[in-house]
Amino acid sequence: MEPEEIETLAVLGAGSMGHGIAEVAALAGYEVTLRDIEREFVEDGYEQIVWSLEKLADGGRIEEAEAEAAQDRITPLVDLEAAVEGADVVVEAVPERMDVKKEVYTEVEEYLPEGAIVASNTSSLSITELSEVTDRPGRFCGMHFFNPPVRMELVEVISGAHTEEATLETVEAFAESLGKTPVRVRKDSPGFIVNRVLVPLMNEASYLVSDDEATVEAVDSTAKFDVGLPMGLFELADLTGNDVNHSVLEYMHEVLGEAYEPAPLLEAKVENGELGKKTGTGFYEYEDGQGAEIPADAGSDGVERRLLAAMANEVGKLVADDVSTPDDIDRAMLLGAGFPEGPARMADDHGLVDLVDLLEEQYEATGHPRFEVGEGLREAADRGGFHGTDDGR
Ligand SMILES: NC(=O)c1ccc[n+]([C@@H]2O[C@H](COP(=O)([O-])OP(=O)(O)OC[C@H]3O[C@@H](n4cnc5c(N)ncnc54)[C@H](O)[C@@H]3O)[C@@H](O)[C@H]2O)c1
Repeated sequence: MEPEEIETLAVLGAGSMGHGIAEVAALAGYEVTLRDIEREFVEDGYEQIVWSLEKLADGGRIEEAEAEAAQDRITPLVDLEAAVEGADVVVEAVPERMDVKKEVYTEVEEYLPEGAIVASNTSSLSITELSEVTDRPGRFCGMHFFNPPVRMELVEVISGAHTEEATLETVEAFAESLGKTPVRVRKDSPGFIVNRVLVPLMNEASYLVSDDEATVEAVDSTAKFDVGLPMGLFELADLTGNDVNHSVLEYMHEVLGEAYEPAPLLEAKVENGELGKKTGTGFYEYEDGQGAEIPADAGSDGVERRLLAAMANEVGKLVADDVSTPDDIDRAMLLGAGFPEGPARMADDHGLVDLVDLLEEQYEATGHPRFEVGEGLREAADRGGFHGTDDGR
């Protein structure tokens, strides 16, 4: 079946994500309405778009005329009816609160054409639960852009329990028409793919320090210089915000079980209000132009094995639960998290049997549920790798 034709997009919420999504869609030639609750907020978002388009034109990435045309395709609005009455697709980017989003959908249903698709940019809330307050659960899915949408190529397209295949195909084709790479998340599972790998990995980093097995410096040096991640895990945690990571873990803990309990060090940071860059202190200090200074030579093999084992176990769980495939997980982590290689590939290259042994030893020694080897990792280790042994590399 051919994906349906889309001409007009309504973006709800003109904040960090909403304005970026509107800009990307306007650049791709769509007519866009951008809606926020106050004139001041929607104008702020619109001004940020104008600023960003000018920067793209100044840098020679687009023509001046393209920037102007894109700007003309965006209509900033406060009136919800006017924003959604002609929309083929609505992308919702209002604050990450279930009650706020549900209220927005109820209101949107009064004016939105029957066949239109509603997609949420939520980072963590249940797509199924959100879809159930609309009159169109089959025409509802997740469309998770990464920050900033203008630069980040990945879009996770998430199926809720009621989402129809045609909706997913249309949204994936729409994402491609924006110049993005959609990766399907087949089941509505906490953290989808990228955050499901990253957030427990940051938690493992905190456990290593909580349990006195490594220092912040050693973990970040290993992550950045030995594993080759774009930044240290504590550096990343400080950038995302310890409160944000903590609440994602709490949600995983509630839905997925004890393996996701936040580490004591992370708990302490949140309790002390040391939330990261935004508060001036987190795992590092950010006052007076300071920041993370990560030495290139403080890493260790022991920490590297622990990080790889944590990632491999998470990949295995996503595969065993049929949320995603090793190839899609790798693609998502390359595009959405700047990994040099996908986590499934890295774990295969290291050797899954060694990672299973490490987890079993740790489980035996500590009994902590995060070390329990999942069925997906065990099966992949038996087969010789997530990607098999005979994949032409
Ligand atoms: N910031 C990120 O890095 C990031 C990345 C991916 C996804 N997300 C998700 O995107 C969504 C938006 O996040 P954000 O960072 O852009 O938040 P934000 O706070 O920057 O923007 C939210 C905007 O929504 C507006 N708003 C509130 N109620 C509204 C309503 N009823 N109708 C229209 N607008 C309304 C607010 O006034 C605000 O301008 C959240 O679900 C978040 O989880 C955020």
